[in-house]
Amino acid sequence: MQGQWFCVADRCAHRYAPLSEGRVKDGDIQCAYHGWQYNGQGQCTRIPQAADTTACCSSAACVEAFPTQVRAGAVWVWPDSSPTAAHDSSLAMPSVDTVLEESLEYIDWYIRDFPYGYAGLMEMLLDPSHCPFTLHGIGLFNRDQGKPMPSTLTECKTEGPSAVISVECARAFRPAGHPYDATVTFHSPCHITHDFVGVNGHVIHGMYILPVAPGRSRLLYWHKAGSPGGASLDRLKALKAPFGAGKAQLQRLVAAAEKFFVAFERCKRHMYLHPIFEAVGGLLHGQEQNLSGAGSQAGFHMPSSADLLVTKFYAWLLGTAGGGPCWPPRTLQLPPPETNREALLSREHQHVAKCPSCQTMLAVNGHMQLASKAGVVLGLLAAAISIVMGGPWYVCAAALALVYVAWKKSCRSAEWGKQFGFVDYVHADRN
Ligand code: FES
Repeated sequence: MQGQWFCVADRCAHRYAPLSEGRVKDGDIQCAYHGWQYNGQGQCTRIPQAADTTACCSSAACVEAFPTQVRAGAVWVWPDSSPTAAHDSSLAMPSVDTVLEESLEYIDWYIRDFPYGYAGLMEMLLDPSHCPFTLHGIGLFNRDQGKPMPSTLTECKTEGPSAVISVECARAFRPAGHPYDATVTFHSPCHITHDFVGVNGHVIHGMYILPVAPGRSRLLYWHKAGSPGGASLDRLKALKAPFGAGKAQLQRLVAAAEKFFVAFERCKRHMYLHPIFEAVGGLLHGQEQNLSGAGSQAGFHMPSSADLLVTKFYAWLLGTAGGGPCWPPRTLQLPPPETNREALLSREHQHVAKCPSCQTMLAVNGHMQLASKAGVVLGLLAAAISIVMGGPWYVCAAALALVYVAWKKSCRSAEWGKQFGFVDYVHADRN
């Protein structure tokens, strides 16, 4: 609103309808139910049904507002609406990796919702030792790489408002015989950085793990991509310069192609990441259910140093952090076990619905499928007409060739389309 980011509670003061269902009007947010409007400070600016305009002035007509900051291309919200919140938030800096501060040009974000909670997701992302087993068959991961991973604590500051715990894991990954050492760092309450160093170079990526509700979490994962739109886009950009200012149409065409290639490259990267998180879906959901039966993590048996960071994280979570996220009173406890695999792993609901790049590619794929089907019909029609009219044999052959190519394309589009929905991950089938 008004060129700035504001954040207000998602609950209208009138009859508690969610304001997120509304719209921005004249710089205010307007509730979609009866049209009450609020400014960025949460003050009510209009009650269409009230003849007396002073009705807006009552504090009961306001909604809670929370301070925001923009940093590293993201909007950060300070979850406090008290009178000192703006001042307090200005003194606190969000935990951001320096790579994000330097440049956002090659940064790709992957966002996904999960049907399990914050603690399990944190624990999994703090622990590289599970990868050879959980991710067997994805990329270069292999169960045979499951060997001791000596880990050393390099930083452990758990007192005060901001905790930092860092662990060096020797040979955390061993792709094709070239081991990578990893430094995994936890910044409280929800930020993790992985820093890998190996003979093939240096790779860094980071994650924010957001508690959404009991048994629900959201991951924001960033990594640095080699090029935003891949080699095809780089070639297109090189082409763009000679077009000159007079070739506006071509410029527009190239701009549209740029958008396509960026979406395509992002979608490809997200397709690579999907199975990584699907591989842990059943494990983490089941672990959380088992844990709720057991009562706490106290019974975990972690005899090797590979679990060092997980041990330290739980010590912080159960000690300094008071046990975990605080939920509003009367929030339901953990949801019942999810027995529907699709609900557990659906890419469509957990990622695609929130990812503009994947949505673009899903729509493009739909158009391609339609065009391929049209190609099949046209080819068949042309072949039939050619036979009936006694046309030359090669016309009929060309029409049948079109049918074949279009049919193959249609099948490939149908297969690709499935990748945007539910793809099961069964460990026992990965040999
Ligand atoms: S509930 Fe929002 S205006 Fe009525």
